[in-house]
Amino acid sequence: MNVCVLLGSLRKASFSGMLANALMSLAPSSMEPEVVEIGQLPFYNQDLERLIDPPPAPWTAFRQRVKAADAVLFITPEYNRSVPAVLKNALDVGSRPYGSSVWDRKPGAIVSGSPGSIGAFGANHHLRQSLVFLNVPTMQQPEAYVGHVHKLFDQHGKLINDDTRKFLQQFMRAFANWVETIRS
Ligand code: FNR
Repeated sequence: MNVCVLLGSLRKASFSGMLANALMSLAPSSMEPEVVEIGQLPFYNQDLERLIDPPPAPWTAFRQRVKAADAVLFITPEYNRSVPAVLKNALDVGSRPYGSSVWDRKPGAIVSGSPGSIGAFGANHHLRQSLVFLNVPTMQQPEAYVGHVHKLFDQHGKLINDDTRKFLQQFMRAFANWVETIRS
């Protein structure tokens, strides 16, 4: 099961990146998760689609990569109670040209995280709003709003909270079951 992992943060010491590493290491053996970079994608602009042939190479590579995957896992912080622009841009790039969206029927799951106490709930649910339209069957339970994320890792980015480890492992097992269910 090939899983694209998309991160809503570009910074090197990102807690979302640490969450991603933890989640990938806790995934069941049936899953092969891989982070797919999105920071290099030019901002979506319909003119580039219509007027330039072929469209920007990073768009094409990204579309092909997501299309080939069995599932997609979004790991995101919250920016101003919503989805960081880099992640929204990746959604938009993958959604076009019209009729060729790479998201259609691709099973997905969301983990949101924040140093704050509500675990980027706003970003998580704004993302869900787009995924409804994009026809991504998104796992509903368990939900994952990881609060106080800055306290869960050591200075090397290693997860140091046992309860969180257990929860993230259960989350990945549930996601694997979800992907199987949707694919069958
Ligand atoms: C934030 N942050 C933030 N946190 C939150 O819980 N809700 C919010 O709405 C926002 N808004 C916000 C906007 C912008 C522009 C920045 C840069 C930050 C704080 C954010 O959660 C924190 O910086 C995280 O550490 C960002 O995630 P990464 O980069 O560590 O993955």
